[in-house]
Amino acid sequence: MCGIIGYTGPLEAQKILLEGLAGLEYRGYDSAGIALCMEDSHIYLAKKAGKVKNLKEYCEQQVTISSHSGIGHTRWATHGGVSDMNAHPHRAGKVTLIHNGIIENYHALTEQFHVQDKLVSQTDSEVAAHILDQLYENDPLVAIRKLASLLEGSYGFCIMFEDQPGAIYAIRNVSPLVAAATHSGSLIASDLTALIPYTREYFVVPEQRIVKLTPYKVHVYNLDDTFSKNYPEIMTVNWNMDAAMKNGFPHFMLKEIHEQPEAMQNTILPRVNKGVPDFSDDGIPDEIFENCNQVQIIACGTAMHAGMVARAILQPVLRIPISVSVASEFRYEEPLIDKNTLAIIISQSGETIDTLAALRLAHQCGSTTLAVVNVKGSTIARESDYVFYTHAGPEIAVASTKAYSVQLAALYMIGCRMALVRGKYTKQDACGFLAQLLDAIPAMETIIGRKEQIKKAAAHIIQSPDAFFIGRGLDYAFSLEGALKLKEISYIHSEAYAAGELKHGTIALISDHVPVIAIATQQHVYAKTISNIREVKARGAFIILLVKENAVVDSELADIQLRIPNVGDPFTVFPIAVALQLIAYYASLAKNLNVDQPRNLAKSVTVE
Ligand code: M6R
Repeated sequence: MCGIIGYTGPLEAQKILLEGLAGLEYRGYDSAGIALCMEDSHIYLAKKAGKVKNLKEYCEQQVTISSHSGIGHTRWATHGGVSDMNAHPHRAGKVTLIHNGIIENYHALTEQFHVQDKLVSQTDSEVAAHILDQLYENDPLVAIRKLASLLEGSYGFCIMFEDQPGAIYAIRNVSPLVAAATHSGSLIASDLTALIPYTREYFVVPEQRIVKLTPYKVHVYNLDDTFSKNYPEIMTVNWNMDAAMKNGFPHFMLKEIHEQPEAMQNTILPRVNKGVPDFSDDGIPDEIFENCNQVQIIACGTAMHAGMVARAILQPVLRIPISVSVASEFRYEEPLIDKNTLAIIISQSGETIDTLAALRLAHQCGSTTLAVVNVKGSTIARESDYVFYTHAGPEIAVASTKAYSVQLAALYMIGCRMALVRGKYTKQDACGFLAQLLDAIPAMETIIGRKEQIKKAAAHIIQSPDAFFIGRGLDYAFSLEGALKLKEISYIHSEAYAAGELKHGTIALISDHVPVIAIATQQHVYAKTISNIREVKARGAFIILLVKENAVVDSELADIQLRIPNVGDPFTVFPIAVALQLIAYYASLAKNLNVDQPRNLAKSVTVE
């Protein structure tokens, strides 16, 4: 969470930092700040609660400041409320720093270093600034090493020292940082979007190393006082700046919904060989699919919902146990996994800390790990035994859309390959499965083309404080994601229920006009789902029904019917996902809310 940027070079730092922060704002948006190194080495600080726009307006009202190095931060509050004072950067003596992460032992350190009376904010980050200032005796590397040895928790720091003009130091543990030395100066950031305007080449700052940015070079030092011999691998960004812009769409979310068919193709097509999934170019060997006796899927939020769909599709085919765990719970449930387990870790960002911790636990248990990740070079991708990169391009809206579709595409392909190598599918079965997966892409386009109809349906939800999503089997797995999408951006309390479960309690909440979004696309449970819909209809619910084009439905059953193309039952999730995303989008829009940056959330969840 929190966006970080640092720059040193020939250009005006303030402009670069403010533009960079605008691009990073999706990582945290409750306050923002910058620190600039002035010509006389004095450090200028500007920080404001609220959006980067507030900070920018504030800076524009100040005297023009010329500076060629500085650091900037957008905050997602953890310790201390949203205020100018709690915004980063934090200054202590000669030290000015920004921080992403949580210092778990900050309380003990506050006492150990007697900094209580010096603190002007409630943040753990300011404690680190004061301790670093105490440790600093003119050698930044020595002081940072000592600080690192004291800290527990996760951190990505960018640090300026008043007597080291033009230099920016950084260190990280878990929290992501990428850096680049370019012809326009050296940059460091919490993610690539801030670097792309200046370079396509970057490296991931290795954990437990210190980097020092000077105007045209980024130096890397070990924590044991030596210069790092192994310079980190230089990586190339595989998307351009356009991908991180709205390109005429009013919101990133709508743009990303529209990008789904292309993202699906980009993820699937390079891995099709003679009509079947082939992961040779990913370096994923068939042995990992052959040699396991169970699959453990681990993820958070939307990624976890993709895992739920995958389990419902694949367990009946593979005939081995497939479990899905919420990453934040997984570590504490004493999971029954071992060397015969294939652990599939799903994460768009590849930085979600709960998911990362679960991955590490899976390794400790001896399991083989396969990550399904969107962000190249991210921590989860680097720490997993094998990686299946989805090719969604950057996802900027906090509400995940295209990342979900391509996670599903990846899981369907993995399942298909696994069924093939385990003899559950013939080559012909696998070809048929893949062909149906590809058929789902035009079905998604069809739904995008029906967005005006979906907008009208969404208008019926917004007056209600509650909404329910119901379905059976796979339709229930889709409902979970529909409910999450709606609640996170429209703030309507929405819950997903297995349709048959309603009568065991929840139906008490159904009264006149309560919106129920009912999904009935699975033939083998269709009749039973329809009965459950009748039960809520009889109690006054307002029914928005999602069914296939060819379904025969009594006209009085639903208040609104949204039809999806007739793709095979296991593949209806793709058009359904688009429809549910659009319902949430238009509900948020109709309520005049911030679609892309909903309250209290941030894109990348790097705190536990
Ligand atoms: O980056 P990850 O896929 O690991 O993120 C997991 C969740 O935080 C994420 O999917 C979240 O639930 C979305 N904001 C939902 O739209």
